[in-house]
Amino acid sequence: LKLKRAKAPHGVLVNSRVAIFISGRGSNLKSFLDSFSSSNVYVFSNKKVKGLDWAAKRGCHFELMNLKKDEVWHNISDRLNELKISKLFLLGFMKIIPAYFLESFKGKVINLHPSLLPAFPGLNSIEKSLKASSSVGVSLHEVNENMDEGPLIFQSALPEKNYNDLDFETDRVHSLEQQTVSAYVRLREI
Ligand code: GAR
Repeated sequence: LKLKRAKAPHGVLVNSRVAIFISGRGSNLKSFLDSFSSSNVYVFSNKKVKGLDWAAKRGCHFELMNLKKDEVWHNISDRLNELKISKLFLLGFMKIIPAYFLESFKGKVINLHPSLLPAFPGLNSIEKSLKASSSVGVSLHEVNENMDEGPLIFQSALPEKNYNDLDFETDRVHSLEQQTVSAYVRLREI
């Protein structure tokens, strides 16, 4: 009987080049970089945020995007095409991406969101889910030109929740988000 060697839990290579867009503290980016080797990961942020420090520490290529400049989306599109990226993950990226950009990366742009979409798109989604006494969970979906919208790839809900403890539930959702992205990359063998 031949046993297959189990994949190492950390530092697994991403097989192809991926880009990650962020706008904030970058906990999902950090978790991504904890699980996958940084050599094929290209990080872009529209702000000087903590996430860029993670990228720098891990030796990732990273860039600050000035979204105020009109030509920027064309430039980024050229860069990603040059790099031949296979997926672009939005991990806490809080800007709408123009339709023409999405058109040239059809099926490749994937957003992570902390609610069971289509419920509670936008900001404060965990709080809104708890206030509405709805299920709390996360969604991974292909991106269209509207905010937190597009074909769903995967959703996962927390089994039970405490509607009165936002901090506790927020931590649980963030850890579910990190597991979700990691599972997607491994299962799709990106
Ligand atoms: C995450 O919860 C992510 O799902 C959410 O922003 C947070 C970023 O946290 N994204 C959205 O709300 C997209 N609409 P992070 O910067 O620590 O990864």
